[in-house]
Amino acid sequence: MSILETERLILRPFKEGDAESMYKSWTSDSRVAEYCRWYTHENISATEYLLKMYLDEAEKGFEYRWAITLRGKDKPIGCIDIVDTEEMELGYVISYDYWNKGLMTEAVKAVIDELFRMGFDRITARHAVDNPASGRVMEKCGMKYIKNDTTNRKFGSDELCEVKCYEIKRS
Ligand SMILES: CC(C)(COP(=O)(O)OP(=O)(O)OC[C@H]1O[C@@H](n2cnc3c(N)ncnc32)[C@H](O)[C@@H]1OP(=O)(O)O)[C@@H](O)C(=O)NCCC(=O)NCCS
Repeated sequence: MSILETERLILRPFKEGDAESMYKSWTSDSRVAEYCRWYTHENISATEYLLKMYLDEAEKGFEYRWAITLRGKDKPIGCIDIVDTEEMELGYVISYDYWNKGLMTEAVKAVIDELFRMGFDRITARHAVDNPASGRVMEKCGMKYIKNDTTNRKFGSDELCEVKCYEIKRS
């Protein structure tokens, strides 16, 4: 599993002990969860369970998930991963405290480069139409809009939501 470095970030595998920072930074924050398919965690046990799932998946060879940390501070402030391996679809979150500083654009660019380096030819991403900041990240990373689609707003929910789909191909 690779460690990726950008100007301000280190993207590294998740590890034991990350749950507290994950919980404080994003899993408990409804502002972050609003346009994501998961629900906010009501307590840290839910985040510990999620972290265990991440560690188990990494142990089994899943190599497409990184904790986003600031250089010089080893605490995760966000996560970027592949949420659908057939479509090589990216998912990403970052703590509300760090929004609009260009950090996710930095992280997504680094991960796209790494996935191309690993041999993938096409990476995709999609965002809820009422979450334009995520679409802006995709555009700034060179992804191209393909189409609108409809999907479930949350896991296990029948509520539908319109999304914009993007892709980038290896040149
Ligand atoms: C979406 C998200 C990942 C963006 O991360 P970030 O680090 O703030 O992104 P960046 O700073 O690199 O870029 C954000 C861009 O969106 C723009 N933006 C912010 N709010 C916006 C809005 N309401 N409408 C349009 N653009 C907006 C910013 O101005 C910036 O663009 P600019 O550099 O051209 O000015 C972050 O807000 C987040 O984690 N949100 C919650 C989880 C989420 O929605 N994940 C994506 C699911 S598809």
